[in-house]
Amino acid sequence: MSDTWRKGFSAPRRRLGSLLRTSPKKLFVLTIAIFFTLCLLAGGSFRARRYYVEKAKQDERIPYHWEKYPRLSGFYHGVRTLVNYTDWVPEQQITEKTKPLIHEVPPMDPVVVNPYPDFSSSEYLQDHHPVQRCYVDENEKFPAPDIFAYPGIPAGMPAPFWGSYESIGVAPDRCWERFGRFGPYGYSYNPAEGGLGLSNNSAHAGAEKVQDMFTKVDYRKVDWSKAQKKCFEKNQKRFDPEAARGDGATEGKKVVKRSAYVLRTWTGYQYTDIQLLSLRAMINELSLKSGGEYDVHLLVHVKDNSIPIWASEEVYNQTIRENVPEEFWGITTLWSEQQMRTYYPGPFPEEENFENHSKSDIHGVYRSAHFALQWFAQQHQEYDFFWNWEMDLRYTGHYYEFHNGISEWAKEQPRKLLWERSSRFWIPGIHGSWSKFSQLVERETMESNEKPVWGPVTFPTSGRGMLPSPKENTPPTKFEEDNFQWGVGEDADLIVFDPLFDPAKTNWVFRRDVSGYNTSLEIPPRRVAIITVARLSRGLLNTMHEETFRMHHTMFPEMWPPTVALHHGYKAVYAPHPVYFDRQWPLDVMDKTFNYPPTPQDSPFGWGEHNMQGGSFYYNAGFSGALWRRWLGANENGEGGKKMEESRSDRMCLRGTLYHPIKSESVE
Ligand SMILES: *[C@@H]1O[C@H](CO)[C@@H](O)[C@H](O)[C@H]1NC(C)=O
Ligand SMILES: *[C@@H]1O[C@H](CO)[C@@H](O)[C@H](O)[C@H]1NC(C)=O
Ligand SMILES: *[C@@H]1O[C@H](CO)[C@@H](O)[C@H](O)[C@H]1NC(C)=O
Ligand SMILES: *[C@@H]1O[C@H](CO)[C@@H](O)[C@H](O)[C@H]1NC(C)=O
Ligand SMILES: *[C@@H]1O[C@H](CO)[C@@H](O)[C@H](O)[C@H]1NC(C)=O
Repeated sequence: MSDTWRKGFSAPRRRLGSLLRTSPKKLFVLTIAIFFTLCLLAGGSFRARRYYVEKAKQDERIPYHWEKYPRLSGFYHGVRTLVNYTDWVPEQQITEKTKPLIHEVPPMDPVVVNPYPDFSSSEYLQDHHPVQRCYVDENEKFPAPDIFAYPGIPAGMPAPFWGSYESIGVAPDRCWERFGRFGPYGYSYNPAEGGLGLSNNSAHAGAEKVQDMFTKVDYRKVDWSKAQKKCFEKNQKRFDPEAARGDGATEGKKVVKRSAYVLRTWTGYQYTDIQLLSLRAMINELSLKSGGEYDVHLLVHVKDNSIPIWASEEVYNQTIRENVPEEFWGITTLWSEQQMRTYYPGPFPEEENFENHSKSDIHGVYRSAHFALQWFAQQHQEYDFFWNWEMDLRYTGHYYEFHNGISEWAKEQPRKLLWERSSRFWIPGIHGSWSKFSQLVERETMESNEKPVWGPVTFPTSGRGMLPSPKENTPPTKFEEDNFQWGVGEDADLIVFDPLFDPAKTNWVFRRDVSGYNTSLEIPPRRVAIITVARLSRGLLNTMHEETFRMHHTMFPEMWPPTVALHHGYKAVYAPHPVYFDRQWPLDVMDKTFNYPPTPQDSPFGWGEHNMQGGSFYYNAGFSGALWRRWLGANENGEGGKKMEESRSDRMCLRGTLYHPIKSESVE
């Protein structure tokens, strides 16, 4: 789902005043900007709107405070500058800038990355069923391929500003470049061999070493649905509670939980070659290599409401064939807003809606993207977890390492003060370790007069009232009596990738888009995480479903899952994945800006959102796309590309990073 429409609040407030006291030329520019805005709004092209408005304003605007900080350049150091992790000094800590030592060829060799448990070890087999190997093709000629990283980091690479690798279980000591990351999925070999042939224009020092490490898979006839299905069937015992209870021989084995990895796409979506590589990587790394722990699904929004996808299998299949690359046909599920109107008839009356800020249909994907996921989860109660994944996300590292690492990290978090920790940005450079950060949050929460969240949150209701909350979400003790024990070892019900903030403390524009409650009473307490990327448990999704169909409750998509979790006492976390910025922010300024905005308007989730533009992960981040494209080898604003890479230190090598949004990508 696109979220660029939230635009319009990112300008410094001074700008408005200066435009009012303005010259005819400026007025002309402003008129043009408004004209484009209206045209594009009418055309529904929110993305384009954003682009033109920014263009028109370019010369007019007052620079943001962060634009004066020096740019970091170590991101672009290539594989010929690799150093051992223990020798690496982050760019932020280098006091005297010197050129890194550039070798003739990469000074180390790529290695296979295997982040899975050692499936064949006796420790694993002691309490798990054996894992059967999975293949890409039906004839089992091509085993699910490995991918490769360099066991080092380019000299002078910046450190992430938020989050950390170590805490989320991602190896911090290696980096990824295009041949090792995507070569095995067809990036670097020819269409005649079943690859995509995208590497002809790439700098490639040392790449032949990677090329020699894998067998080229012919992807031309791959059917991922068959591959995933077969993999699951071979490994079914691992996930079957009956088999775990056992018959003597298999007794006492752990039941492995399963996830659906749900990609939110739509009819008319253009699958670039790079997107194909990313999708193959997800299926291979999450599903096939893990012995079926995940199933990747494409959940496709059919935008034309007049197509009766529910009435005819032929129409359904035809719609898939016209909108999805053949290799993914079998993992595709279609839905439409028309179908959601029937599934969740409501009613959702206007008088029960606090504010319809976007002035759009309640059944539209814009206001209720979660309806489709809730429906999907009802059809697939076999999964324990559902990852809601957007199409404009990219990740440079190993998918399983990232997702499994985050899930395990979340599982270990105690529930006490979890909402409070999750509402902040952890900046290790100033806060220290996670446990120091946790102590800080504890101290500041106790010093404030706010009551920490502890179990389901109650609030005045009338009319239909509230659904009861699941018994297991009732705290076993009083808050004061818990020694950070409750919740440890319990899988999280909601994992998000930006802080879980209270919108009442911000001027986030959709904070009052709350439906189905008595609007004469106070608005219910809420939480929000920007970007609808999350892992949701089956239990949480079932409650969301029931809240919607039975109670006619719903809220803006980024607010709904966190708020249902808050109301019903589910375990919710913001996972501190590493986030980079393009400039060297002073850390105290960064902490103040993001964690202590002086007014609600200054919140990074309100008018202060411009502070995110230089980041690698936010809905309006601009650096994310630039860095991703440079990593692929593209020329970006006159920088990068084959010639420049070859004349410097060759292609970039980044540690695993989650990027959002990626609005375009190319290898040229
Ligand atoms: C990394 O460390 C190993 C072992 O100490 C050493 O042999 C190697 O030369 C180092 N590599 C680089 C690029 O510094
Ligand atoms: C890349 O180069 C190879 C070998 O020269 C050639 O066969 C192939 O057609 C090229 N691929 C593309 C996409 O241009
Ligand atoms: C639609 O596609 C499915 C899956 O490929 C297939 O099993 C089914 O027979 C198809 N139905 C029609 C009417 O084409
Ligand atoms: C929201 O506003 C739109 C446009 O005015 C209107 O069509 C729609 O019915 C409203 N929906 C709700 C639930 O208020
Ligand atoms: C909403 O709350 C007001 C104020 O308590 C009350 O008078 C009214 O009856 C309630 N409406 C419904 C539909 O319950």
